[in-house]
Amino acid sequence: MSRKALIAANWKMFKTPAEAKAFVDAFLPLVAGHDRDEIALFPSPVLLPTVIEAAKGSNVAVGAQNIHFAEEGAYTGETSLGQLKAVGGTHTLIGHSERRQYFAETDEIVNKKLHTALKHGVVPIVCVGEVLAEREAGKTAEVLKTQVTGAFVGITPEAAAPIVIAYEPVWAIGTGKTATPEIAVDAHKIIRAQVAKLLGAEVAANVRILYGGSVKPDNATSLIGQEEIDGALVGGASLKPDSFAAIVKY
Ligand code: PGA
Repeated sequence: MSRKALIAANWKMFKTPAEAKAFVDAFLPLVAGHDRDEIALFPSPVLLPTVIEAAKGSNVAVGAQNIHFAEEGAYTGETSLGQLKAVGGTHTLIGHSERRQYFAETDEIVNKKLHTALKHGVVPIVCVGEVLAEREAGKTAEVLKTQVTGAFVGITPEAAAPIVIAYEPVWAIGTGKTATPEIAVDAHKIIRAQVAKLLGAEVAANVRILYGGSVKPDNATSLIGQEEIDGALVGGASLKPDSFAAIVKY
């Protein structure tokens, strides 16, 4: 099995353009020549041109934290895939739990965004994960299967190759409570089995599933080192160049 790991930085609503540029300038030398894993940064939309320009020609890709599913139109405050591509963005997160929680994103919206991202050739990272109450109620598998199934409506095996999934247990995001490697591996297996059910064994064997939720330099190896875990989506620990570089080089 040869799934190349993807290590992604979700900067959320942090950094000014000057801070973002300073990050990239400090970070690139730390990961120069690193080609074992793919690396991607996800800054706020207003930072995209600065970060893309600063990372040009490097081994670091840049994408959006969120996009709209429409091609263009009267959607105040939103960013289209065409706009993202025009400034050089190549990836996008879709359905991050903060989007689901604070901006009412449903599986149906996630599905529409996934279709539009694939249409534009932008690499989508579809985020799924259970909240604490769901885990405690023994509903984790059910929630993950529902989210994956909802996200993948109308997606064919032929179109699915670029899709990346991020498993982010909501109780582990920004809390310092990381899932144990066993918990993460179990969840990844549930997700991969659901992808197999929907799109076949080959797509499931190739789909990359990242883990996210309080990934830090000191727990990165035990998580990303697992055969089932194909990289990480990192929030807090991705804001400093040395910390994120240490995770990239787990
Ligand atoms: P965290 O965030 O690493 O700060 O827990 C992860 C995420 O929300 O993607």
